[in-house]
Amino acid sequence: MWWNNVETKPFGGYPQHWDVKLLEKLGPQKWEKGEGDSGKTYQGKTIFEAAPKGEVALGYLPEDKEWRFPNIYEDTSTPWKDKATLPSHDTFFFYLQRICNHCTYPACAAACPRKAIYKRKEDGIVLIDQERCRGYRKCVEQCPYKKPMYNPQTRISEKCIACYPRVEQDTVTRCIAACVGKIRLQGWINLPEKIEADNPMDYLVHVAKVALPSYPQFGTEPNVFYIPPRWVPRGYLKQLFGPGVENAIERYSDPDPDLLGLLQLFGTTQQIIEKFRVTEKDAIGYDAHKREIIRVPLEDPIVIRPPIYHNIT
Ligand code: SF4
Ligand code: F3S
Repeated sequence: MWWNNVETKPFGGYPQHWDVKLLEKLGPQKWEKGEGDSGKTYQGKTIFEAAPKGEVALGYLPEDKEWRFPNIYEDTSTPWKDKATLPSHDTFFFYLQRICNHCTYPACAAACPRKAIYKRKEDGIVLIDQERCRGYRKCVEQCPYKKPMYNPQTRISEKCIACYPRVEQDTVTRCIAACVGKIRLQGWINLPEKIEADNPMDYLVHVAKVALPSYPQFGTEPNVFYIPPRWVPRGYLKQLFGPGVENAIERYSDPDPDLLGLLQLFGTTQQIIEKFRVTEKDAIGYDAHKREIIRVPLEDPIVIRPPIYHNIT
C-alpha cells in the first residue's frame, strides 16, 4: 500500500490509468471566459455534478489487478501527438508525486455511508476513523484521486494521514522532510479573499500563482499544489493542472526577488514556515510566533582557492 507514490507521467498511474478513466467518464472539460488564461472558469461538470443517480460523486472501483504495479511505466517517455515547440519537447516524461490532497470538499467523506471519514477543523487533515470503517469502499470508488486504499488484511480502508502527529508539533510531514530534491514545502493556506502576502502558501498559490492543483476540474479543491514542468507539451499540462499553466511557467522562469527567495526556502527546515521575508541578501522563514527559524543566503558565497593550494589533492 503506497499512500505516497510517484508516477511517471503521462503513462504511469497507481492504480493504473486512474486519471484517464475518470477523465473519460467526466466528458468534455472546457475552461472559458474570464481574463487571461488563469482567470478562466470551468464550464464542464465536476465529479459531484456528474454523479449517477443515488451517488454523491462520479467514480469507479479499480479492480485488484490495477493496483499491482505502483511503478508501472517508470521512466518511460512518450511521443506527444501534437507538434511541440521549444521549450516543450515532443518526447517527454516527468514525475508526479501523489499523496491524499486533503481536499476542501472531500468526495471520500461525502461518499462514505458510515460517516467514517472526517475533515479536521483545526488543520483540514482528512482522516478515516479506523473504528467506524466497515470496508464499504465507497471512498475508494468516489475519491477521484484514488487515495483511500482498501486493506484486505484488516478489511477496512486506510489513507494518508498527513502525518498529523507531526503537524500538531508544527513539524512538516515525513514525505516533505525526506525529500532529497528539496522540492516540497508545507504550510497553511488562506481563502483567496483573505490572502496574506507574507504567507508562503498564499504567495505561491494566490499571489504568484506558480503552484497549481491537480485536475481542478474534478471539483474537490485539492490542497496539494504543483509547480508545472516547462518542457512538457502545454496541452497535457493544462489538462492536468488547469488553465494557469502558462502564467505559472512564465512567472517562475523569470522570478521576482520574493519568489526566488521563497523557492530557496523549500526543504531547508523541518518546522512549518508560517511567514517569510526576502531581503537583499537572505530569505528568512518565521514560525507562528514570528520567531526566525531559518535564514538562507540568496547567493552562496564563492570561495576561491589560494594559488598555494593549486594541484594539491
Ligand atoms: Fe478524500 Fe481523495 Fe480528496 Fe484525499 S484526495 S481528501 S481521499 S477525496
Ligand atoms: Fe466508509 Fe470507505 Fe470505510 S466508504 S466504511 S471509509 S471503506
